Amino acid sequence: MVASRKIAVLKERASGETRVSATPETVKKLLALGASLAIESGAGASASIADDDYRVAGAEVGDAGSVIAGADIVLGVQGPEPGLLAGMKPGGWIVAGLDPFGQRARIDAYAQAGLEALAMEFMPRITRAQSMDILSSQSNLAGYKAVILAADTYGRAFPMMMTAAGTISAAKCFVMGVGVAGLQAIATARRLGAQVSATDVRSATKEQILSLGAKPIFVENVAGIEGEGAGGYATEMSEEYQKAQGQLVSNHIAKQDIVITTALIPGRPAPRLISDAQIASMKPGSVIFDLAAPQGGNVEGTVADEVVEKHGVRIIGLSNTPAHLPADASALFARNLYNFLSAFWDKEAGGPVLDEEIGGAIRLTQGGRIVHERLLG
Ligand code: NAI
Repeated sequence: MVASRKIAVLKERASGETRVSATPETVKKLLALGASLAIESGAGASASIADDDYRVAGAEVGDAGSVIAGADIVLGVQGPEPGLLAGMKPGGWIVAGLDPFGQRARIDAYAQAGLEALAMEFMPRITRAQSMDILSSQSNLAGYKAVILAADTYGRAFPMMMTAAGTISAAKCFVMGVGVAGLQAIATARRLGAQVSATDVRSATKEQILSLGAKPIFVENVAGIEGEGAGGYATEMSEEYQKAQGQLVSNHIAKQDIVITTALIPGRPAPRLISDAQIASMKPGSVIFDLAAPQGGNVEGTVADEVVEKHGVRIIGLSNTPAHLPADASALFARNLYNFLSAFWDKEAGGPVLDEEIGGAIRLTQGGRIVHERLLG
């Protein structure tokens, strides 16, 4: 008989973080695998989950020290402070969005403590890992929320309305970057009744834009990225492409009421897509939501967590957009973590055993050392 693994869930301590890495639903499922669950009191409060909801699901609720004591695995939305993990079993796992480049000192501390840090944002984009992909689940919600917040800030309505007092015309919404967040932004703006157009550097997105009932706006005279791009990711574009894209945006943006930017390049600062001069060409009262704000922003002048007004245009950017939908973001994040642990749960070992493809992609530390190639050298 193998001893059951203890899984610990701490309250998130980062400022503005409202999510939690386990829900009563995933607690029940993790218990069904044979694990025991301990949750820090108050961990779910900002996602509207009470301690009692966790207790009813079968978890023990206590203070951080008792929750961590003897834990084999700690789950998190973000990486926990290393000082909180002192009571964990040697070689225990940290499974969370670890922000490996932004939080390097923390990763080093996990290594020194002999813990195994698994960065869920490094999950490979392969079919079997889709249900474990925290970037997708959170980007989808962020794309939705960006449109809702932009609509709320905009001083006009989104849909066309024909009323006895006269007609209101539909808002024009332009989505820049059509990955997971951009696709959801297009769908949400369409549902609200806006006239939507969208652009990307990857040619495969043209079909996706059309299938959502929006208009593709693409650079035609300089080659972009053929198809999906490696792993669905973009790379930095040539100077020639950037110039052509700048021209295209200048022509289009002056006619837009709402612009949602989502463009990202893995491991690089977000590409600059909108200049101050282009903002000045927009109508006063227009709104830009810059979802790339945490990576430096797509828009000149974005300040994370502030509404900046320039030339009568309001520019919004949040450092943690999914945290503005705490309940759904937690539900999906927690399922991503459950899907990951359950896919690798080995009944005989009594716990998860990773394979090389996924383990090698997400493991940052092991045996007291940093082992991930992107963090070495
Ligand atoms: P992302 O967050 O890295 O980037 C967002 C979008 O910005 C991308 O579509 C990218 O092409 C675009 N972009 C970059 N530079 C740009 C520029 N200069 N101008 C305009 N657009 C620019 O991408 P995300 O959302 O993570 O996913 C991209 C693709 O990967 C999607 O097609 C998605 O379906 C695929 N994917 C596949 C997964 C799997 O198979 N497990 C999981 C997640 C995504």
